[in-house]
Amino acid sequence: MTAEPAVQSPLPADLHRDRLPHHVAVIMDGNGRWAQQRGLPRIMGHRRGVDTLKRLLRQCSDWGIGALTAYAFSTENWGRPLEEVGFLMTLFERVLRQELTEMMAENVRIQFVGNLSALPESLQGEIDRAMAATRHNAGIRFTVATNYGGRQEILQACRAIAAQVQRGELQPDDIDENLFGRHLYTADLRDPDLLIRTSGEMRISNFLLWQLAYAEIYVTQTLWPDFTALEFHQALQAYQGRDRRFGKVSPQ
Ligand code: FPP
Repeated sequence: MTAEPAVQSPLPADLHRDRLPHHVAVIMDGNGRWAQQRGLPRIMGHRRGVDTLKRLLRQCSDWGIGALTAYAFSTENWGRPLEEVGFLMTLFERVLRQELTEMMAENVRIQFVGNLSALPESLQGEIDRAMAATRHNAGIRFTVATNYGGRQEILQACRAIAAQVQRGELQPDDIDENLFGRHLYTADLRDPDLLIRTSGEMRISNFLLWQLAYAEIYVTQTLWPDFTALEFHQALQAYQGRDRRFGKVSPQ
């Protein structure tokens, strides 16, 4: 799923290639406000938000970032007006259908994570098709969290592990971070190094609760539809200026 035209943008000279995040996660907030500020229906903000996401995916891919994970729909988002929820489901489906050829051409491997069985069947069909078609692509890993909740993800991992213990396949002492991580939706992905949240809110909203343990967080006031290539560049500059200690002290 990439933006036209298909021209590769080089990594800006001030960014260090060897210190780029391997995995970037984004909370795409502010679509509704973006539309309301323009006197438009909220759904127009979501539509514009898709363009921003396509641009960002292309940019990550061009700059050699291995994985991008986007929070498209949380388990709490069902509480939105029925019309908006319906629009989003249709939008996801349409985008998947329209962008599959482009994703193949760009070598993108897409996966959806979350409780997908509660999504409309036609959307589940498009998701299965896109995941199967791109599964051997060796380019950027693009993960879309849909009907996703971090606590729910942790609970389903606990249930799966508990069932293995109950069957005698595992001992409680076998349960370590590694094993636990392998029961999450993101089992074959590295943890995100950088979380970007647009529109100024200082929270992680039940997103990748386990996986974000040591991520650097970058929050911008910019609303998601206005999140530009320049702003992503600034986020990466900020990331490269951070001292990632993972709970240790810096060497003197
Ligand atoms: C948050 O803005 C945005 C969403 C809940 C939807 C984001 C979805 C997309 C951009 C489409 C992605 C499509 C695919 C196929 C991956 P908000 O509505 O909460 O904005 P507000 O805080 O201003 O109300």
